[in-house]
Amino acid sequence: HHLAAPAGPLTGRRVLVTSGPTHEPIDPVRYIANRSSGKQGHAIADALARLGAEVTLVTGPVALPDPPGVRVVAVESARDMLEACRAALPVDAAVFAAAVADWRVAASADQKLKKQPGAETMTLDLAQNPDILATISGLTEGRPALVVGFAAETERVVEHARDKRARKGCDWIVANDVSAAAGTFGGDANTVHLIAGSEDVDSWPPLSKAEVAERLAHRIAATLGSAAS
Ligand code: CTP
Ligand code: CA
Repeated sequence: HHLAAPAGPLTGRRVLVTSGPTHEPIDPVRYIANRSSGKQGHAIADALARLGAEVTLVTGPVALPDPPGVRVVAVESARDMLEACRAALPVDAAVFAAAVADWRVAASADQKLKKQPGAETMTLDLAQNPDILATISGLTEGRPALVVGFAAETERVVEHARDKRARKGCDWIVANDVSAAAGTFGGDANTVHLIAGSEDVDSWPPLSKAEVAERLAHRIAATLGSAAS
């Protein structure tokens, strides 16, 4: 073992977590990104490690310390994140908490783009990024036994998240209510519903991101059990 994980209900289990935004280059000095602090994904990696799991955290650019006892792989773009996730397999469970950019610039420039004299507008051609959650969920060989996605929704939260779960082929979806009433990006309070089946919806009270992480880690532990001894 390369890490001294504490003994716990996830001892002997390997888990992959994604976190943070991705940065999609426009040119060497500019990028497209989502708003994401990485707080939730990092807290999940931390909580899983404290239950004894061997955790690989694949993260986009964030201003957070590495969680202790976690193997951290830093990436920039969605395509790099997918490659790092594939490289982390096999795992028993995978939690996809990253805010992956849906689009990248189709042909990013090698040199800094200059303003063109007289041009009041400019257009970027975008290409769709791979869907990391759907790709890993759809693996016929080496699919993690438990795949967990996230869905940030502003309305009809459970309904939209149920659809997303079916579309992506994951086992669970953590539906995050990001309407103004329930929580805000970058803040610390979260209202989530854990959708573990089309008829299995668990609505949690408003919790801190650390508390959401704890609950999720314990639920994963209860589902996987320990691989030790
Ligand atoms: N996700 C991913 N790769 C992508 C996009 C999303 O792995 N290219 C994952 C996220 O990490 C999250 C889940 O998919 O776990 C849902 O992300 P979301 O942006 O809500 O889903 P989309 O299918 O992109 O739908 P939307 O059009 O609402 O953005
Ligand atoms: Ca998206």
